[in-house]
Amino acid sequence: MKKKVLLMGASGSGKTSMRSMIFSNNPASLTSRLGATIDVEQNHVRFLGDLILNLWDCGGQDAFMDSYLSTQRSTIFSHAGVMIYVFDVESREMAKDLEYYRDCLDGLSQFSKDASVFLLVHKMDLVREGERSAVFQRKAAELDKASGDFPVKVLGTSIYDETLYKAWSSIVNTLIPNARNLNTHLRIFAEACSAMEVILFERATFLVIATSSSSDASDSVVTHSLDPKRYERTSELIKAFKQSCSRLREEFHSLEMELAEFTAVLDEMTKNTYVLVVVHNPVVETAAIKMNIRMARKKFE
Ligand code: GTP
Repeated sequence: MKKKVLLMGASGSGKTSMRSMIFSNNPASLTSRLGATIDVEQNHVRFLGDLILNLWDCGGQDAFMDSYLSTQRSTIFSHAGVMIYVFDVESREMAKDLEYYRDCLDGLSQFSKDASVFLLVHKMDLVREGERSAVFQRKAAELDKASGDFPVKVLGTSIYDETLYKAWSSIVNTLIPNARNLNTHLRIFAEACSAMEVILFERATFLVIATSSSSDASDSVVTHSLDPKRYERTSELIKAFKQSCSRLREEFHSLEMELAEFTAVLDEMTKNTYVLVVVHNPVVETAAIKMNIRMARKKFE
């Protein structure tokens, strides 16, 4: 199953930086060396077995944008599953950015009216911490208004923190056909392991695919004391750890942590996924968790 993902936005807003961090495992520090994207760079990323993301990174210089909206219109906007539109939070040309955005939304409504739209207010690290929430709210309201009746999801992002992983996890989740089933299976698996929580990550990107905790009110009693950023922080930390491993020419396989308060095991679940099992019960041995993962593999393949 192939899903087309359009990555659009003004030149320099940060599209290729995000793509190279999420899909090519490049560190943020290397993104300043990226040149402007010429026309469209297409990539196929195998994501979870059968699902192939066909990523269209559309260079944002005006001449390219004009051509996407005219001669290339049907090529660009046909068969899209998702459009991600990136706005630089510090853009000095917001009126022009919005005009292009509205034109792209028109193209999308014409050729792929069922596509999901994600708007990223990007480079949030450039806004002072105390002002971030207010700036984001203001931008989100502006973007909602510009989107008219088209349902859009607005997220704040930066390549320098976990918000990048949170946004891309929720984007990719809209493309996984059985995401809800996976949550249910993980919940059953968590119970079988006496785990506080079980999280499934995609192998190459380390994006969160499913978790054993649901967002239901009943579960919030259990999870209220846990950090709401724990999933994307884990993605960010493991990716950094994998980069350190590759600098030392070592390959990352698995991770075990035994602390006074909890035991955590991160191990391969299937060919395309890793699972993190967190157990707070000191009686449960690490070896037992690993055996449970081994035994659950078949079910998740
Ligand atoms: P085109 O290819 O011309 O369309 O541009 P682009 O949108 O692909 O921009 P690119 O990814 O090349 O990024 C432009 C610059 O923004 C680079 O120097 C990045 O390092 C920088 N950048 C990207 N993301 C962030 C971010 O979250 N915060 C900050 N401060 N800078 C960022």
